[in-house]
Amino acid sequence: MSTDADAKDPVLTQLEELGLITEVLAEIKSGKEATVYLAENDDGLLALKIYRDVAARSFKNTGDYGVGLASTSDAVSKAIAKRGSKGAAALQDLWVASEYMVLWQLWQAGLNVPEPLIGPEAFDYVQTSPAVLMRFIGDEDRPAPRLSDIRLTPEEAQVAWQQALEGMARLLKLGLVHGDYSTYNLLWWEGSVMMIDFPQVSDQTNPHFQSLLKRDAESLAQSFKRLGIREDAESTLREVQRLARTLPDKPRLTLP
Ligand SMILES: Nc1ncnc2c1ncn2[C@@H]1O[C@H](COP(=O)(O)OP(=O)(O)O)[C@@H](O)[C@H]1O
Ligand SMILES: [Mg+2]
Repeated sequence: MSTDADAKDPVLTQLEELGLITEVLAEIKSGKEATVYLAENDDGLLALKIYRDVAARSFKNTGDYGVGLASTSDAVSKAIAKRGSKGAAALQDLWVASEYMVLWQLWQAGLNVPEPLIGPEAFDYVQTSPAVLMRFIGDEDRPAPRLSDIRLTPEEAQVAWQQALEGMARLLKLGLVHGDYSTYNLLWWEGSVMMIDFPQVSDQTNPHFQSLLKRDAESLAQSFKRLGIREDAESTLREVQRLARTLPDKPRLTLP
C-alpha cells in the first residue's frame, strides 16, 4: 500500500467537496483500469475505486462484455459506437453504474461482497462517477489480500475453494455470472472469501451466458492451482451447478 496520495486525483477533491470522504489515506492498488484508494469519512474506512482509461479498456472488450451495454439507451450506444470522448465518458458512467447496481443487488441478497456506500438509487450514485465507494475490506494495518497473492495451508485453501464455489453458485442462483471470476478478484479476510470487481457481470439475457459461466469455472480452477487445489473446469462447473440447485429459490435478477 503506497501512502503517496499527494499527486491528487481531481476526483478525490470532488468527493471531499461533496462531503463523502474526509481524507485519502493510501493508494491500495493501481491497475490499468482503475485505481483503488483507502479513504476515511465519519463512518470509518472506505475503498474508492476510480475508473480511468475506460475507453481503452472497454472498446477492446466489446466482444462478450459489450452485450450488456447493448441493452442500454440508444443515445449511449450510439455515442459509444462513435468512440468519441462523449462515448468514453458515457461508457465510464456505465461501468460505474453497473458496478454499483450489481454491488447493491448482491449485498442485499446477502452475498459476501463489500457493502456499497452510495445508493441504492442511481440518482445518488451517479454523482460519484467515475468512483465507486464501498466498504474497505481489511484493517488499519493492511487491506485484505487477494487469494492470488497469498499462501494458504491446505486446510485454508480447501475452505477458500469451497467458499469460492459457493459464491459462484449463489450468483448463478440469482441468474448472474461474474465474468472475471478468479483468485484475482477474490479477497481473503478473517477466514472468508469476499468477491469483488463487478462491472462485467452478466445476466441470463446475455446470449454468451453459458460460455461466460464455463470461462469463469475455468479461470477459477486454473487460478486455484497455485493454492494446491486440483480441479478441472468441467468438474468445477458441475459442482457450482450442483451447489446452486441445493440453494433456496431466489427470483432471478436481470440487469437493466
Ligand atoms: N472493498 C475493497 N477493500 C479492500 N481492497 C479492495 C476493495 N476493492 C478493491 N480492492 C483492491 O483493489 C484491487 C483492484 O480492485 P478491482 O475491483 O479488482 O479492480 P480492477 O481489477 O478492475 O483494477 C483489488 O485487487 C483489491 O486488492
Ligand atoms: Mg480486479
